[in-house]
Amino acid sequence: MRVTINQIKEMKQKGEKIVMLTSYDYSTAKLVEDVGIPMILVGDSLGMVVLGYETPIPVTMDVMIHHTKAVVRGTSQALIVGDMPFMAYHVSVEDAMRNAARFIQEAGAQAVKLEGGVTVADKVKRIVECGIPVMGHLGLTPQSVHQLGGLKVQAKSLDAARKLIEDAQALEQAGVFSIVLEAIPYKLAGLVTQKVSVPTIGIGAGPYCDGQVQIINDILGSFTEFVPKHAKQYAKLADIMSSAVTEYYNEVKSGKFPTEKHSFIIDEAVLAELGK
Ligand code: KIV
Repeated sequence: MRVTINQIKEMKQKGEKIVMLTSYDYSTAKLVEDVGIPMILVGDSLGMVVLGYETPIPVTMDVMIHHTKAVVRGTSQALIVGDMPFMAYHVSVEDAMRNAARFIQEAGAQAVKLEGGVTVADKVKRIVECGIPVMGHLGLTPQSVHQLGGLKVQAKSLDAARKLIEDAQALEQAGVFSIVLEAIPYKLAGLVTQKVSVPTIGIGAGPYCDGQVQIINDILGSFTEFVPKHAKQYAKLADIMSSAVTEYYNEVKSGKFPTEKHSFIIDEAVLAELGK
């Protein structure tokens, strides 16, 4: 049985921190679940850390479904949240519902996430009414990178902070089960966390959120383009991978790998026949 949205909501009531991490493939998701992480986000961040785009904007529904299926296959307990990509929920309520349904019906996710507040509340409401749990996302919303003028901290002015609180309340009203708060001042994140009954999940939003989410490549140090200020590297996988690949290269070149130990045998009698 997978973790449910009610269990996630109860964690806020109990004051238990919620840990969430992204995954984009079968083996990583399996490992993340085995550690006990209850909620996995198949984020459109995969556009940058897996596919090498500069922003998540080129990521399509088909790409998200492909990766979400792999993550679902690698897990049996975690709640899987599929990230609705750019333009998957902007055109119309019908479009948003159809695309949300694909994550649940086709990919096997248990919830979807979408960016925005008041402006997407009508879509969130209809998706939730169809029985699909929705996670909101406020603050730095990377799909609007060009409108925001870069991937930078949001809601620093009084007006912008007020707007963010209104957006969070609109999402709560529309029925989200939790809200990601990305790259906003940490005291504002703490205030939003007090003002809404659903869990807030921070990324670059400080310690006073109900939970945290990180991009797995950032915390493992496997994405080398840049390290976001909010990310802590718990490993430097890029260094480990680079030295392993170098060793492999050197051993193949020198004839040290493969040895007979890594090879398959043929019956000596067959070999003798071949030699005749
Ligand atoms: O795409 C993603 O991974 C996200 C997280 C940064 C919350 O939206």
